Amino acid sequence: MSDAADRKRLEALRAEIRQHDFRYYVLDRPTISDAEYDALMRELQELEQKHPEWVTRDSPTQTVGAPPSHAFEAVEHRVPMLSLDNAFDEDEFTAFDRRVRERLGRDEPITYQAEPKFDGLAISLTYVGGTLTRAATRGDGRQGEDVTDNVRTMDSVPYRVDLPGESEIEVRGEVVMTHQAFADINRRAEKRGEKVFANPRNAAAGSLRQKDPRVTASRPLEFFAYGVGAVEGVEPPDTQSAWLDRLEELGFTVAEHRRRVTGLEEALAHYHELGEKRDGLAFDIDGAVFKVDALADQKRLGFVARAPRWAIAYKFPAEEKITQVRDVEFQVGRTGALTPVARVEPVAVGGVTVANVTLHNMDEIERKDVRIGDWVRVRRAGDVIPEIIEVLPEKRPDDAREITLPEQCPECGSEVMRDEDQAVARCTGGLYCPAQRREAIRHFASRKAMDIDGLGEKWISLFLERDLVKRVDDLFRLERDDLIALPRMAAKSADNLLDSLEKAKKTTFGRFLYALGIREVGEVTAQSLARHFGDLDALMNADEETLQEVEDVGPVVARHVHAFFQQPHNREVIDGLLEAGVHWPKPDKPADKGPLAGKTFVLTGSLPEMTRDEASDALTALGAKVTSSVSKKTTALVAGEAGGSKLDRAEKLGVPVLDADAFARLLEDPSTAPD
Ligand code: IVH
Repeated sequence: MSDAADRKRLEALRAEIRQHDFRYYVLDRPTISDAEYDALMRELQELEQKHPEWVTRDSPTQTVGAPPSHAFEAVEHRVPMLSLDNAFDEDEFTAFDRRVRERLGRDEPITYQAEPKFDGLAISLTYVGGTLTRAATRGDGRQGEDVTDNVRTMDSVPYRVDLPGESEIEVRGEVVMTHQAFADINRRAEKRGEKVFANPRNAAAGSLRQKDPRVTASRPLEFFAYGVGAVEGVEPPDTQSAWLDRLEELGFTVAEHRRRVTGLEEALAHYHELGEKRDGLAFDIDGAVFKVDALADQKRLGFVARAPRWAIAYKFPAEEKITQVRDVEFQVGRTGALTPVARVEPVAVGGVTVANVTLHNMDEIERKDVRIGDWVRVRRAGDVIPEIIEVLPEKRPDDAREITLPEQCPECGSEVMRDEDQAVARCTGGLYCPAQRREAIRHFASRKAMDIDGLGEKWISLFLERDLVKRVDDLFRLERDDLIALPRMAAKSADNLLDSLEKAKKTTFGRFLYALGIREVGEVTAQSLARHFGDLDALMNADEETLQEVEDVGPVVARHVHAFFQQPHNREVIDGLLEAGVHWPKPDKPADKGPLAGKTFVLTGSLPEMTRDEASDALTALGAKVTSSVSKKTTALVAGEAGGSKLDRAEKLGVPVLDADAFARLLEDPSTAPD
């Protein structure tokens, strides 16, 4: 064998042995016999003897036990992972088809490979000599995260495929979770009082980004291959459709509902057919992707910025269904606001069963004229909470009942008040009201606040019921014995919870302020307050005028903040927290530190593969300020998908707008920031 071939075989062997080590030591689920394992090891040893200069410290011949984890290390994509342009209606799709023909200078209809647009997360799998050596998330398209260990646990990802020894190929596709698996996981999480996932996509992403691969192994994830990235040592076919067939032959799962279509009419017909099948699929899809089938044509068409000119994602409209309102209940939130929630006859909308639909407030009910017994059209779009679009008046039954605001709080019986000019009605019970207390504690413990791991709604309700906790500071005084005495609290869970509480004591000033649940003080405002004042005493003693000097703080927020700190019982809670050991490092004065010092950013819409928190943290780490509203002083608006009103405002004020790519560039090289 040539050196190059030896090298590929060596890498493939190492990857394969690591895979088996991993299954043996970490998952406890070996898939080959000891003799087969020994044979692989022997072959590797022989190759290493032949090329001693290739022996590395992390070679399986030099290590014992589980392979070293490279979890979440940054991984550079050899060929960038791009995104797709979207079409939202027939006109936009038709325009795409026209552009393709114009660019190719062709009159005859184009042949496309149509595929479902999977609603999951993209990953790239590298196979060297047919062995899976690396799996990475898309990240910002150029750089992703190493998720090899986790992907190795997935049954739908083959770790050996029949490819030439000297080949290296990157298979790309989407990881999704089925509706069934999603429902099971959420049911289990709910039982344990843990956080539930909002949708299958988040569940898939959360499952893949687990620190412990055994957790990923317990989550049923599916991988659908939809293309290739870098390819070496494999003769590529001429078309996208042939690639998909090849991938299927190699053992990858490829969309069953894929089809070659020629011309606009066939493409549109396929789109509508797929839309009809959508409800019956086991997983979420949110559109159809059309790719120019001939690879030579793809090459001629090329790319613009972040997306290929040869493909488009034709999205399905938000799904709507008709159902009947059975009842309306009022939920009491942290601030005492009563939110009417319609209990509807359960229907599957966009792949998720909807049984509760928010009605927001009494004004909304009046505006839409919703009554109990009415037939209504409900919609669910992506992550959005299901909502009632309209009532079908012609179907209103004779006994439909008007919805009235209760006079007393359904949770504590206190009077409910609704100011003349306000849509929101509130319970006046304050912290006497268990719902408000429960919500206040839940908010306090939440991830963006004190981040008390494992303290879910179930535990909070139980603590309140048993009078173990009345105020948030009581959490830090919980005793092990009291916890163990609770039903379903094993010693281990009690210890875990006490451990999380202990860890949560070390926080930041901004998180602490946010956790207090001051009306109108969201995360960003809390951060601004923390940065401006630097310490708690200064903030507590600030008058409304001083408070308004803070970025993001107007008269309303200033009034709420001031009023909050004037309340003796709030001060008692704060003292209690500090006495219990809650503390934070003194914030640095970031004003003159970091390459983005003096610059102010606003975030809107969702960025691919990066949460808003992460984006905000990344900016602050570089010295920038992140605020919640666009003003003339804003340096730039970072707008992900679905920007909305902030985008309009930025455009009106002439504030520069950075899309996901420009933002990624900015983080990489802050000198590209607008002035
Ligand atoms: S092809 C250059 N095919 O959509 C082409 N992507 O908006 C890039 N996606 O990040 C992707 N189903 O996560 C392709 N059949 C499909 C897809 C698909 C879902 C996702 C993928 C990508 C995103 C782009």
